[in-house]
Amino acid sequence: MANSNYEYVKSFEVEDRLMPSTWIVVRIDGCHFHRFSEDHEFDKPNDERALNLMNSCAMAMLEEFPDIVFAYGVSDEYSFILKKTSQLYERRASKILSLTVSFFSSVYGFMWKEFFPNKKLKYPPYFDGRVVCYPSAKILQDYLAWRQVDCHINNQYNTCFWALVKSGKSKMEAHNLLKGTQTQEKNELLFQQFSINYNTLPAMFRKGSCVFKDKTSVQEVSLVLDPLTTGKGRRYCEVQRGW
Ligand code: GTP
Ligand code: MG
Repeated sequence: MANSNYEYVKSFEVEDRLMPSTWIVVRIDGCHFHRFSEDHEFDKPNDERALNLMNSCAMAMLEEFPDIVFAYGVSDEYSFILKKTSQLYERRASKILSLTVSFFSSVYGFMWKEFFPNKKLKYPPYFDGRVVCYPSAKILQDYLAWRQVDCHINNQYNTCFWALVKSGKSKMEAHNLLKGTQTQEKNELLFQQFSINYNTLPAMFRKGSCVFKDKTSVQEVSLVLDPLTTGKGRRYCEVQRGW
C-alpha cells in the first residue's frame, strides 16, 4: 500500500464518544445574531417571523435526526434532546455536533425566503453548538427550566426596554430605569405606563417554543416535558417538509 508509511497519523485522532445511557443535549446558538438581527431589521423585542423560522428549522431537525425526542427554543438558540439510548454516529461528539449544527444552519438559510419573502439575506447566517450529556431526567428538567427562566428574564427586560425606547427614552435612560428592578416592578411599569399586561403577550415570546413528536415513547417524553407543561408556545412536529 502506497500510503502505509503515513497511516500512523491516524493514531493522533482522539476518541470522543459521549457517555453511554445519558441524555445528549445539543444547544445551537446564532453567531453574532445581535448584528444579524439589526442588519435584517428584526422586529423588537421579538420578531415572530424569525422565531417561526427557528421553529421550522427545529422541526426539520426532528425529521432528519429521529433520535431527537424533544427540542426547546428561544431567541436565536435551540436545544435538542437525543434519547438516552441513542447510538447516533456511535455517540461520537464531533460527528453529532458538526452534523446537527451544519444541518440547522443550512435549513435556516434555505427556508429564509419563506419567512422573509421581501428581505434578501445580506450574508450567510451561522450557528455555534455545544453538546452536553445529562445523566438523569431531573437534571434534564433543570436544564430546560434554566433555559426557560433565561427566556422569561430576557423577554421581560427586553419588552420593558423597547417599550421605553419606543416612547422616547434613550437607550441609556431605559437601561437606568430598569436597573435593579424586580419582576413585579417590571410588570407594573408595563401595565401603568404602556397598558401592557405582560401575561397576555404571546406565549411563544414569554415561554419559548417546543417541538416534539407525538409518536415517540410516552415515558421518555413525559419525563422531559414536566417543566414546560404550561407552555402554550409548543409546536407539534408535523412532518411536511416540502423539498
Ligand atoms: P453570540 O451568540 O455570542 O455570537 O452573540 P449574539 O450576538 O448572537 O447574542 P446572543 O446569542 O447572546 O443573543 C441573541 C441576540 O439575537 C439578541 O441579543 C438579539 O440582539 C438578537 N435577537 C434574537 N431574536 C431576536 C428577535 O426576535 N428580535 C430582535 N430584534 N432581535 C433578536
Ligand atoms: Mg447568539
